[in-house]
Amino acid sequence: MAATRSSNSKPTKTSEEKFSLAQVFVAFASLPRVFRLVWSASAPMTLILGGLSILRGLTPAVSVSITQVVIDSVIRGIRIHSIAPIWLPVGLQLAVSLVDRVFANANNIVQQLLQDKVLNHTQLMILRKTNTLDLSSFENAEFYDKLQQAATQTNYKPVSMISQTFELMRTTITLVAMLSLLLQLSWWLALVAFILPIPSFIASSKYSWYGYRLMRHEAPERRKMLYINKVMTVDDYNKEIKLFNLGNFFIGRYIGLMTNFYEDGKKILVPRQLNNLLWSSLTVIANSGIYLYVALQAVLGRISLGALSKYTQASIQAGTSFQGILDGVSNVYENALFVNTLFEFLQYVPTIVPPEKPVKVPIQEDSNGLDLEFRDVSFTYPGKTEPTLRHVSFTVRAGESIALVGRNGAGKTTLVKLLTRLYDPDEGEILIGGLNIRNYDFADLRQYVGVIFQDFAKYQMTARENIGIGRVVDIDNLEDVKASASKSGADEVIEGLDEGYESMLGHWFKDGTQLSGGEWQKVALARAFMRDARILILDEPTSALDPQAEYDVFTRFRHLTSGKTAIFISHRFSTVRLADRIFVIEHGDIIESGSHQELMQRDGRYAELFNLQAQAYR
Ligand SMILES: Nc1ncnc2c1ncn2[C@@H]1O[C@H](COP(=O)(O)OP(=O)(O)OP(=O)(O)O)[C@@H](O)[C@H]1O
Ligand SMILES: [Mg+2]
Repeated sequence: MAATRSSNSKPTKTSEEKFSLAQVFVAFASLPRVFRLVWSASAPMTLILGGLSILRGLTPAVSVSITQVVIDSVIRGIRIHSIAPIWLPVGLQLAVSLVDRVFANANNIVQQLLQDKVLNHTQLMILRKTNTLDLSSFENAEFYDKLQQAATQTNYKPVSMISQTFELMRTTITLVAMLSLLLQLSWWLALVAFILPIPSFIASSKYSWYGYRLMRHEAPERRKMLYINKVMTVDDYNKEIKLFNLGNFFIGRYIGLMTNFYEDGKKILVPRQLNNLLWSSLTVIANSGIYLYVALQAVLGRISLGALSKYTQASIQAGTSFQGILDGVSNVYENALFVNTLFEFLQYVPTIVPPEKPVKVPIQEDSNGLDLEFRDVSFTYPGKTEPTLRHVSFTVRAGESIALVGRNGAGKTTLVKLLTRLYDPDEGEILIGGLNIRNYDFADLRQYVGVIFQDFAKYQMTARENIGIGRVVDIDNLEDVKASASKSGADEVIEGLDEGYESMLGHWFKDGTQLSGGEWQKVALARAFMRDARILILDEPTSALDPQAEYDVFTRFRHLTSGKTAIFISHRFSTVRLADRIFVIEHGDIIESGSHQELMQRDGRYAELFNLQAQAYR
C-alpha cells in the first residue's frame, strides 16, 4: 500500500509503456466482457445491431454487380434502339440503394439508443460500485484517478467498441464479396488491394496506444483541473477566494494545465494525421493504377464496359473495406484500452466487508444503551508508518456518558471511525454488546451507533430532508423530524425560515437559505437524534455553538441520552466535565481516565489542560 501511494505519478512499469502489435490482438480478448456489458444493457438492441451489420455488409457487392448489368443493358439498348432493357436493372439498383438507406438509418437509431442505454448502465455500475467501497479508498489519490477515468473516459467506449466490432464484421463481409468479384478478373489485383492498407494499420495502432498512454499519464493532472474548477465555482470557497484575491492565481494554474494538455494532445494529433495522409495517398495512387489496368483491359476488348465499371468499383471498394477493417481493428483496440480502465475500476473490492453470517446486535431490554469495549486496539492509517492508535483498551458500560479529550491529531476521531467500522483495526478487538463488531451487519451496527462527525455533511436539500435522512424510511414523517429538531435546538432555527421544514438549505438550489455554522450543526445534531441509536457519538458537536446554545444542547443531551451510551468529543472543558467519565488521549493511547473530580485531584495532564483553559477566562 505504501508503495502505491507514493507521490510519483508516472506509471511504474516500463513494460507497460512499449507498444507492440501483439497487444492489438490481445485487446480483442476483452471483447467478450464488453459484449456482456452491452448485452446486459439491452439484449434485443444488441441483436438488431448485429443483424443490420450483416445485411449492410452484403449490399455493396449486390449494388456493384447490378451496376454492371445496368451499363451492359444500356449498351444493349443503344444497339437495339430501345429503352426496354434498362427498366429492370435501374429499378433494382434503386431498390437496393433504398434498402441500404433504410438499413443505415435503422442502424443509427439502434446504435444511438443502445449507446444511451450503455451509458446509463455504466454510470449506475460506477455509482453502485462506489457505494460498496471503503472510506480508505476515498482517501487515496490513485483511486480517484481510476474513478475519474472510469467515469469520464469510458462513457461511450463500450458501445462504440461493440458497434465497431459489428462494423468490422460488416466490412469483412463486404471485403470477401468484393475480393471474390475481383478474382474473376485477376488474382494479383485482389492481392494488391489486400496488402496496401497494412502499414497504415500498424501506424494507426501505435498512435492509439500513445493516446491511451497520454490519458493515463494525464489523469492526476486532469483531476487538478477539476479541483480548481470546483474551488472556483463552489460557494464554500468563494469568500476566501475573494478575500485572499486568489481568483487569478487559480485561473493561472488552470491555464498552465490546460496549455500542457493542449500541447501534449497536439504532439500526438499532428504526426497521426500526417501519417494518415501519407498512407492514404499511397492507396489513392495504387487505386489509380488498378483503374488504369482495368481500363486497358476494356480498351483491348477483353471485358465489357459494364465489367469495367464493376471491377474498378470492386477494387476500390475492396481497398477501402480492407482499410476499414484495419481501422476498425485499431479503433476497437483503442476503445478496449479505455474500456479496460472501467473494468479496472470495477475490480476494486472493499477490504472491510460484512460477515457472511451476521449476528443481530444483542439489545438489552432493561437498558437503552449498549456497552462497548476496546481491547488492545492498534491502528495505522494505510500509507502511514506511525500508528495512530497504540494498544488502546477501555470499557464503557451501557448508559454511561464519556468525554474524549486530547490535542488535535491525538486520535479521537479515529477511535470513532474504528467503532463504526469505517476502518478495521490492525490489532485487537472492538466489542459492542459483548461481541466483536465484525459479527454485525453494517446496517445493523450503524443503526445502533449514531455519529455526527466534526466534518458532518451539509446537504443541499430541505430542512426536513436534512434531518429525515437520519432515518430514511421516516424522511416524510414530519412528527419525528420535528421531535428530533426540538432535541437539538434546530426547531427554532427552522421555524424561523420562510417555508419552515420545507425550506431549501444551502445556496445551490433555488430559494435556498444559507444557515450559520452553528445552525447547520444543530440540524446535523437533529439528524443524529433521528436515529434511535443506543450509542450516540458526537464529535465536537458544539464547536460552532454559542455558549448559551452549547449549555442548552448539553443539558438537553444529558437528559435525552440518559440511559443511552453517549460519547462526546470536545475541546471545551465546561462541557467535558459533565460526563460520567473522561478519557484523555495522547499519542494514540488513553493516558488518564476518571470523573472530572478524580482527574483534577490527580493533577495530571487533564488538570493541566483544564487549568490552561480556565486561566484564559480569569
Ligand atoms: N484518513 C487519514 N489518513 C491518514 N492519516 C490520517 C487520516 N485521518 C487522520 N489521520 C491522522 O491520524 C491522526 C489522528 O487523527 P484524528 O482525526 O483521529 O485526530 P483527532 O484527535 O480527532 O484530532 P482533532 O481534535 O483535530 O479532531 C492525525 O495525525 C492525522 O494526521
Ligand atoms: Mg477529530
